[in-house]
Amino acid sequence: MSEESIRKEIFKKVEEFHRSKKPRPFVPGKTPVPYGGRVYDEKEMVGLVDASLDFYLTAGRFAKKFQEEFSKFLGVKHCVLTNSGSSANLLAVTALTSQKLGKRRLVPGDEIITVAAGFPTTLNPIIQNGLVPVFVDVELGNYNIDIVKLKKAITKRTRAIFIAHTLGNPFNLDEILKLKKKHKLWLIEDCCDALGAKYQGKYVGTFGDMGTCSFYPGHQITMGEGGTVTTNNPLLYTILVSLKDWGRDFINDPKKNTEKKRFSYKFGKLPFGYDHRYVYSHIGYNLNVTDMQPAIGLAQLKKLPAFMQARKKNAARLQKFLANYEPYLMLPTVLPKSAPCWWALPLLVKKNPHFTRNDMVLYLEKNLIATRPLFGGNLLKQPAYGHIKHRVAGSLENSDTVMHSVFMVGVYPGIKEAQMQHIINTLKRFFYAHRIL
Ligand SMILES: Cc1ncc(COP(=O)(O)O)c(C=O)c1O
Repeated sequence: MSEESIRKEIFKKVEEFHRSKKPRPFVPGKTPVPYGGRVYDEKEMVGLVDASLDFYLTAGRFAKKFQEEFSKFLGVKHCVLTNSGSSANLLAVTALTSQKLGKRRLVPGDEIITVAAGFPTTLNPIIQNGLVPVFVDVELGNYNIDIVKLKKAITKRTRAIFIAHTLGNPFNLDEILKLKKKHKLWLIEDCCDALGAKYQGKYVGTFGDMGTCSFYPGHQITMGEGGTVTTNNPLLYTILVSLKDWGRDFINDPKKNTEKKRFSYKFGKLPFGYDHRYVYSHIGYNLNVTDMQPAIGLAQLKKLPAFMQARKKNAARLQKFLANYEPYLMLPTVLPKSAPCWWALPLLVKKNPHFTRNDMVLYLEKNLIATRPLFGGNLLKQPAYGHIKHRVAGSLENSDTVMHSVFMVGVYPGIKEAQMQHIINTLKRFFYAHRIL
């Protein structure tokens, strides 16, 4: 038998294996309802096995194809695949410190505007690069940066804005792009929770200088661990690849014959002809994926439009039900030009005499419905950030409210009719038990 026909035989067995796994029936209150998770079928498993049989192990043909397909999906020129969304954020911020950017490069002490009510690894690369985070408060309802306060926060030291489209709900790109232009700022969009969300019909992550994504389970698509930085800027692209690949200067590009020209250059004080593969133009990392990850990702990418639809439907269903309880809950708000692709649905428990956020969270958890806080609440209140150099522009009172009063429930495609009915019935029982009829 040829290698190809053995491979096909193995794929058939893998498909058979997947089909043999019988889904367990959903039992309300006994079967957990996660906030998110892997939704996959035999295609992802075949992809994984295909890459394993190659035994290339590190980023190879599947990584190349994923980068091409992902760029095509978003409509961007360049995509750098990396091993997590956190690595993508680290690469994006570090890229802005590259000498190759000349006068536009960020230097220690420069300020980057961000929010405190967010995920830690949006903030961390700012600190890790010796830059100063400037915290601006968020708006309640959409949990994105407050534009009025953002305008007041900008100083001569401000060089960039790095914020997330919180939970897949796009921030005000019209206003932020105006400020970017006026003050000549870099903009990085953290789209780790927002793949598939659109602003004025265009995918988020394509408006700023760079956009980042995460493929950790629970996001819009998964490959286990993984992330991307996308950009339309060719110089940023080469810097990102260099930082990801140990800091080396060399980019393997068959169209430019880079492999053949490896011994044809003089760099810095190195002797002429020193192997380009071992020339370092950045102080870099190794943040590569294995080829098994994008092999899964490629199958997931095909499912993304259906996943987006399912998230939209689940979020709408929950919002419709919860609209009856608006005296007690603040439902998410969305800008007119924003089309969210919800990671999870944020709910704010308003001050009321019947129940608190914790009462509601504990009741849902007791009924095996997973909840999450809005990440770190106010990150400045977290133990890790007690001593960081930073500036707070205005007050962070809404960030504190997020920490005290907001939680999230899942809307991911694994939540089908039975799970949704369980969430709604549980919430009905909760309201009833608290004399809200
Ligand atoms: C807004 C945001 N940024 C960055 C990340 C980090 O992504 P990863 O878990 O892939 O490192 C996350 C994680 O979910 C996130 O929510």
